Amino acid sequence: MKALVKTSEAIGFEYKDVDVPKIGPKDVLVKIMGTTICGSDIHAYHSSPNIMKMFQLPIVVGHETCGEVVKVGQYVTSIKKGDLISPEPHIFCGECYYCQNGAALNCLNMGLLGHTIGGAFAEYMAVPAHVCWKHPPGISYELGAIHEPIGVGVHSIMSGPINGKSVAVFGCGPIGMFALGAARVFGATKMFGIEVAPKRIAMARQLFPDATIINPREQDPVKIIMDATGGFGVDVSIELSGSADATRLCFDVLKREGRVSLVGVPPGPIEFNFHPNIILKEATVRGVFGREVWQTWWQLRAMLDTGRFDPLPIITHRFPLAEYEKAFKLAQSGEAGKVLLIP
Ligand SMILES: NC(=O)c1ccc[n+]([C@@H]2O[C@H](COP(=O)([O-])OP(=O)(O)OC[C@H]3O[C@@H](n4cnc5c(N)ncnc54)[C@H](O)[C@@H]3O)[C@@H](O)[C@H]2O)c1
Ligand SMILES: [Zn+2]
Ligand SMILES: [Zn+2]
Repeated sequence: MKALVKTSEAIGFEYKDVDVPKIGPKDVLVKIMGTTICGSDIHAYHSSPNIMKMFQLPIVVGHETCGEVVKVGQYVTSIKKGDLISPEPHIFCGECYYCQNGAALNCLNMGLLGHTIGGAFAEYMAVPAHVCWKHPPGISYELGAIHEPIGVGVHSIMSGPINGKSVAVFGCGPIGMFALGAARVFGATKMFGIEVAPKRIAMARQLFPDATIINPREQDPVKIIMDATGGFGVDVSIELSGSADATRLCFDVLKREGRVSLVGVPPGPIEFNFHPNIILKEATVRGVFGREVWQTWWQLRAMLDTGRFDPLPIITHRFPLAEYEKAFKLAQSGEAGKVLLIP
């Protein structure tokens, strides 16, 4: 089969023939229908040192995916041939201390799809049945493919109370927009989105007429947010840009006793003043990593079931897998939403 493989520390991937993966007795073989490009795939393309540490080379990359099960191992009972699934790419063991305490996202033996376990920019992928999320009938595979990043947006919003709260989302990339959608559905009162890329500002304004979208290069987000919240600031800030400036702004616009959920990954250490921002404000700071298994996936399904937020328009471009170079260039340009590759 054809697959996108990270073969060495060199920049880029190889599009090449590899064997269809073999399945064990507890695995399923999935025929991939589409896989979207994640920020971490872009880091992998550029061989960023932090990401390279996580790889077991050579490896088929890609993890935001959806496909049809075509074969199941002999002990698999939960999934059958023909099911449409998306994997939870944080492949938890189900047996360690954290897994046994309802915190599989902190699994001590975590495998990472497309990093340590062969991934989804390929025609087929083998995954353990216990990490498969089965989609209900009638769902499109494109919506299935973005369940994983939507889950990050949902988890960031739901990592503290949101109902009846005002919220500012920093970074309106795909995950920031998924977070705004989740904030709407789960009951945020006022919503603000902060973004610097003109195409994404336009997209966020179109998809979220119920939010105030602010360009911090042209407007003062602190003044706008303070004016709109009676001088108090927002109850919740969600950092989804990975920018140090935005991380500091999350606290500048925060109400006393508010919550900041940090999700975006900064390029390195950042300078930050704890005293005024956290101590004096009695702020709560949450780290957010991936999705809660399986709570976030159920929340995501409940969100979609309301019909009050359609995440599909956030996929803006589709390419055949063979044209991955073009797709990766576009995905990092700030000119697109999610970019889907079809094997
Ligand atoms: N913690 C996790 O589990 C997890 C999972 C997935 C992604 N992430 C991280 O979440 C972030 C968002 O993911 P994404 O796929 O939407 O990424 P993205 O890079 O597509 O989006 C980030 C957006 O932030 C904007 N931005 C940059 N500087 C800004 C600033 N100063 N103010 C406001 N906006 C600014 C960019 O223009 C971009 O649109 C990334 O940092 C990603 O690495 C974290
Ligand atoms: Zn991802
Ligand atoms: Zn575990």
